[in-house]
Amino acid sequence: MSDYFVLRLHSVNQRAEEWLSQEAFASGALGMSEVLNFSQPEGEEDVFAQISDERTLDVYFEQSPPHAFLQRIQSLFPGISAKLTGEANKDWLAEWKKGFKPFAITSRHWVVPSWCETPEEARHVIRIDPGMAFGTGTHETTRLVARELEILGPHNSLLDVGTGTGILAILGRQLGFKKVTATELEPEARRVAHENFALNGVQVELDSRQVEDLKDRYSVVVANIIDGVLVRIQDSLKARVKPGGWLVVSGIIKEREQEFLKGFKLKPNQKWRVRREDGDWLLFAVQL
Ligand SMILES: C[S@@+](CC[C@H](N)C(=O)[O-])C[C@H]1O[C@@H](n2cnc3c(N)ncnc32)[C@H](O)[C@@H]1O
Repeated sequence: MSDYFVLRLHSVNQRAEEWLSQEAFASGALGMSEVLNFSQPEGEEDVFAQISDERTLDVYFEQSPPHAFLQRIQSLFPGISAKLTGEANKDWLAEWKKGFKPFAITSRHWVVPSWCETPEEARHVIRIDPGMAFGTGTHETTRLVARELEILGPHNSLLDVGTGTGILAILGRQLGFKKVTATELEPEARRVAHENFALNGVQVELDSRQVEDLKDRYSVVVANIIDGVLVRIQDSLKARVKPGGWLVVSGIIKEREQEFLKGFKLKPNQKWRVRREDGDWLLFAVQL
């Protein structure tokens, strides 16, 4: 009897990875990690190992992954090959935790895993226990939005759509936004966000409604969500921004920039005022 199952996926491109990072958890995955493929021709002394472009991911399940999930991978990403193995428990969560260390996410704010000591140089601390939610702060898109919030500076109100662990909402409060509201689709992520708000002693209203159903308007609205979703909910995102306020979106893979810009419509008198990149990822911001 296996303690857990590992679904090893080969030839995962960026789109597939982004899709998996959301859908795997919805299908009961406990975690996901990248298998780094280092290759070095035999007998060569080159100390710079070459990192392959195509990624291999391990997705962990407590039980065998649902058949429907495997079928969707196969039909959406036929290039991916998959192998499922059952493993004896070697406490991979503990292994993963060892690798998540405190780091500076802005010039003044540090992300400190809840199980780590606070480093002396950390002036403002965001304590995070990510559980199964997205938002350790190590992803490029989270970093991009965090830095943009720091640049925009504190405003009256902030709406964080798709808060995950709550990391950006916590940062918003620490930056001095007076009122911060967060929304999140996944109940498990909402539970994690609640815990992290309490852990940091910050007041954030976690609204369990969809952004489509919200009524208030905010000085700044941020949404770090896969670009297809951003395009789909664009009207609701724009409608939540106060006149003259900012809409900041990230989660856009560089290779899909043109599709995103075509799909996310701005009025003729509006234009994207900010475009930033970090690794393969983009952030855009517009003042409405
Ligand atoms: C890429 S993660 C970002 C998490 C966190 N804000 C960060 O920047 O690290 C996107 C999050 O948005 C949530 N999400 C996806 N679609 C959503 C929607 N329509 N409304 C609210 N949340 C959504 C996902 O469950 C996920 O937690």
